[in-house]
Amino acid sequence: RICGLGAEVNVDYVAVLVLDLRGEELSYVRTPLDVPRLGVEKTLDELAAAIAAAVDDAAAKGHEVAGITVGIPGMVETAPGVLRHAPNIGWREVRIADELAARLAGPGATIRVDNDANLSALAEYAVGTSAGTADLVYVTGETGVGGGIISDGVLLRGTEGYGGEIGHMPIGDPAHRCGCGKLGCWEASVGLAALLREVADKDDPVTDPSVDLEVRLAEMRRRAALGDGRTLRGIEAVGTSLGLGAAILVNLFNPRVIVLGGYFAALGEFFLPAMETELDKRVVAPARGGCRIELSALGFTAACRGGAHVALEAVFTDPAAVG
Ligand code: BGC
Ligand code: NA
Ligand code: ZN
Repeated sequence: RICGLGAEVNVDYVAVLVLDLRGEELSYVRTPLDVPRLGVEKTLDELAAAIAAAVDDAAAKGHEVAGITVGIPGMVETAPGVLRHAPNIGWREVRIADELAARLAGPGATIRVDNDANLSALAEYAVGTSAGTADLVYVTGETGVGGGIISDGVLLRGTEGYGGEIGHMPIGDPAHRCGCGKLGCWEASVGLAALLREVADKDDPVTDPSVDLEVRLAEMRRRAALGDGRTLRGIEAVGTSLGLGAAILVNLFNPRVIVLGGYFAALGEFFLPAMETELDKRVVAPARGGCRIELSALGFTAACRGGAHVALEAVFTDPAAVG
């Protein structure tokens, strides 16, 4: 019985998810790590160890891993599996597929590499609330802001594979510097750091990176629900900027749905009013072209899930790659 493995390098963790052919989860393990500090070599050691453990676990359950797909928070040239630049972890020019293959013993399964948000978009397309919607734009809020654009059923990659880098649209506050080094990226106005800057002071525990992000988001949700002014004003500011970027995406792609992932989904109900107001103001198409905004139900597992799906799908589309 075959299964697919999806992995993800995030800014503060690596994660590995294994799905069987029916899409049932065999295992999911997230390992918290300070990836920018740990650096390329050690992070890849940790990731390879996590992948090897998941492969062994699958074998113990009678499954063989048919393919491995790794999501990276940056620009990936997919054919050779090379990461060119991941702004928020500071990686450049890393041959991810080769580096992992060298760390994993034996001939093993084919390793593919892709942008994290692209994989998340594919997961939404495969199993999300709007699964099968041929025009779907996925927007995730994490340390970085990522996008995956599915148009007429096809993920738009562009020439090299760097398409969908919506976090770096120059529509943010020009006073704020982005992880990519430039001023005024959208990411610098709506990414996690921007939200935290708006809702909290530096000594506030919600800004403490050593506390699990889901715990911090729950606390922000609690404050928002209680009507805390600072929290609500911050969320409104981010929501307005979120609506501006979403309006550009609607004007460009006329999607049926924009799926919000990452922390945008976790706080989504509070972002929506400001976001919708801005969208209505800026979208030129009548009635927004019927585009709805949806909150992802896949949480922070979306990229891994998309990776596992890609690995499984390749069994049918690219049988030579198996084994
Ligand atoms: C990167 C994207 C990534 C996003 C979310 C951005 O900074 O440029 O490639 O998808 O963060 O991780
Ligand atoms: Na992308
Ligand atoms: Zn940028």
